[in-house]
Amino acid sequence: VDGERARAIAGMAWPQLRESVAACQACGLCEGRKQTVFGVGHEQAHWMIVGEAPGEQEDLQGEPFVGQAGKLLDNMLRALGLTRGDAEAPTQVFIANTLKCRPPRNRNPEPAELAQCLPYLQRQVELVKPRVILALGRFAVQTLLQRSDAIGRLRGQVHAYQGIPVVVSYHPAYLLRNLPDKARAWEDLCLAREVYQRQLAE
Ligand code: URA
Repeated sequence: VDGERARAIAGMAWPQLRESVAACQACGLCEGRKQTVFGVGHEQAHWMIVGEAPGEQEDLQGEPFVGQAGKLLDNMLRALGLTRGDAEAPTQVFIANTLKCRPPRNRNPEPAELAQCLPYLQRQVELVKPRVILALGRFAVQTLLQRSDAIGRLRGQVHAYQGIPVVVSYHPAYLLRNLPDKARAWEDLCLAREVYQRQLAE
């Protein structure tokens, strides 16, 4: 990764960061995308949710988690009293992906793509300064925690990214195919809520 580019991104405020993502050509994914998917939510949200990459619907609509997996995520968040919002409708969550562009046919992200996109996510976390991060799926976890263990081994504990507590859980698209793990994902959300409440009490 180009150090100069990473340093420039690390110094950006929201408007520049948004423009920079929208115009990004740092990897080949820019060729197949309809648009970039920056993320959605309040710029000082207390919760940050980090997913994998835009799918077909996200690429079309420009918003993360708007397809089937997103409906599940929204339901789970709603159960915690959290909703997605926008600049005019403050919310407690900011939702972002590890990759801002859709990989062709939703294939897995490649290491070089993750590396090129990482400075954007890092800057988003720095600007939001969430009290808790929920990392969904192995690519979000690998990127934020530098751990390649299976989700099943990393969930149930509180990790940290830059001093911010990180709770790990299954990706909602995985949960759609593995319904029995939904109960575990719910436990993970409850752990995240506990962590959040502890953070507020400090
Ligand atoms: N899966 C993700 O990880 N992110 C999205 O935005 C949609 C599906």
